[in-house]
Order: sequence, then structure tokens, then C-alpha cells
Amino acid sequence: MTDKDALCEEILRLKDERNAIILSHNYQREEVQDMADFVGDSLELSRTASTIKCDVIVFCGVHFMAESASILSPEKTVLLTELDATCPMAEMIQVSSPRKVWKTFPGYESQPAFIFPHEFTLRDIKSMHPGVPVVSYVNTTADVKAESDICCTSANVVKVMESLNDERVICVPDRNLSMWAQKSTNKKVIAWDGFCHVHDRITKEDVFRVRKEYPDALLMAHPECRLEVLELADHVTSTSGMLRFAKASDAQEFIVGTETGIIHRLRKENPGKIFHPLRKDMVCPNMKKTMLTSVFRALKEMNYLIKVPEEIRIPAKRALDRMLEIK
Ligand code: 13P
Ligand code: SF4
Repeated sequence: MTDKDALCEEILRLKDERNAIILSHNYQREEVQDMADFVGDSLELSRTASTIKCDVIVFCGVHFMAESASILSPEKTVLLTELDATCPMAEMIQVSSPRKVWKTFPGYESQPAFIFPHEFTLRDIKSMHPGVPVVSYVNTTADVKAESDICCTSANVVKVMESLNDERVICVPDRNLSMWAQKSTNKKVIAWDGFCHVHDRITKEDVFRVRKEYPDALLMAHPECRLEVLELADHVTSTSGMLRFAKASDAQEFIVGTETGIIHRLRKENPGKIFHPLRKDMVCPNMKKTMLTSVFRALKEMNYLIKVPEEIRIPAKRALDRMLEIK
């Protein structure tokens, strides 16, 4: 028996002992996805977290995802496998205390640290546009959700926007998702200037290069990519939308415009079809922090516990529930 087999056996034993379920996002490492009871996109994971029967949820993803599970299922123990697995985009908006965030991200090392000059907070934007509903992407902290009217994911942003009667909506924090939503609905979107460093680095020149390299392939792109990239794609959708599209399509070859972790499932579920990353460096370092040893440690030591305080959880749940009611 290999060390990996022994580790997997221990995980299964502890999972049974704790009455736990392992949830994994589509961007996780291959071996983590293979160990999970359920692998999905943000919307599917939220739905599963709210309905699944267990005492413990082990969340292999990033912080906001485990927070959503805790918001929806306060009676369950929610464990995040790596505490510093955060989503930089979710940190780009604050409810009430403005701060300038200095960051360097992989792929941007050649540039000096750059700044998100967010002098404003969500409350400032709300007071500038009184009565305009706030749609917050699930890639936000629990307190931002608590200040929002409704949440959305990349899988349902258009339906969420269309469910609102208002002509104008505030959409935070992803500027690219906001622009895509504005283009795909008849809403006037007031957007925040946040972005995902993994998707936003893709340019239309990257698309021209990859299209030339694989002229027969269909291009699928995640709405966190820039509008200039989305306008060149054959299909714009969430990670699980890509899985459905690739399965249903007669095409044999695809270019994948999102984090490369999804390619594991695409290949597994479509033997014979060919998948190329749009760019090989579309890798989210935070999603890759979780290893099998992290899953084992989480179950053994019952950490890292994610628990949202009730005064935040209740209004945040209202925004998530309103989203989950949309079919
Ligand atoms: P999905 O909603 O497609 O799962 O994407 C989540 C995410 O973090 C994208 O970068
Ligand atoms: Fe956040 Fe981007 Fe990583 Fe998704 S891929 S978790 S949006 S940094």
C-alpha cells in the first residue's frame, strides 16, 4: 500500500467517525477532488451545504465558500482545510472601513506592487445610490453579504439580475462579472472595481494566440475574464456550466478559459475529448493550498472551524436564500 493509499484510508475512517462530508470546489488539486463526496461550482456547493445530512462539512475551497456553508447550515461544524486559503477578490471590498490594499500576485511579479484605490466602502456606494439593490457575488465576506439584497454566482448572475424589478443594480466586487451581466441583461449596473487576478490577466492577444494554435477547438470562458475576452468566446459560463457544455457538445476539442483545476473533471467526464488551458498559468494559489494532508488534519484536529456570528449570519442568509430560491 502506498503512503497516499494509507492517507486516503485514514481520511475515510475519520470521515466515518465524525459523520463528515467532504466538499471540493472544481479548482482543487486532482487528488483532493477525487477524495471528495461532492465536487462542484460555488452555486452547487452552496446548495449542497444547505441540504446535505451530516454533522461536519470539510470544505476544500477558499474562505468565503466555507463561510457560506456556515451561514446556510449553522447547526453543522464547518471546517476549512487551510485557514489562509482566501480569495483576494473577496478582500477588495469592505463594508465600512476603507483601506488601501497593496498586493502582488503571481503573474504580476514583474510589476511593482499595485494598489486598489478603493477610497470608498460598500456603505458609501449604497448612500450614493439610495434604494438601488445590491447584488453581491458569492466571492465576498459574510459581512458584505449581510449588507446586500441578494447574492449571485457566475452560474446565475443573469437570472438574479433579471429577478429584480429595479432598472439599476449595484454589483460587487467583480468588475468583469458586472460588465458581463450588464451586457447580458437590460440593467444599468453600478460596478465595483474588484477583479480575480487569475482570470483578469487574460487578454484578447492570449485568445488570438491560443485560437491559432488550436483552430478547431471551442473556447469556454468564465465571466471573471475581461469583457474583451468574453466577447471572443464560444461559450461564457461558470465552471460547472463548462462541464455541461463540453459533455453536450459535438465538438471534440476545447480551450478552457478558467482555473486549470477544472480540466481534471473535464477529462475524466469526457474521455476522448481534448482540453487545453487558455493559459497554463491560470492557477489560483489559494485553491491549491489544500492537500490531502490538509483534509486529514482538518478531520483529525477538527480545524479550522468557520463560524459566522449570528448578527451577520442572519442578514447574510437572507441574501443567500433569496439567490437559492431562484431556479
Ligand atoms: P464558480 O462560481 O464558477 O465556481 O467560480 C468560483 C470562483 O472562485 C471563480 O474564480
Ligand atoms: Fe478568488 Fe480568483 Fe481564486 Fe476564484 S480563482 S478563488 S475568484 S482568486
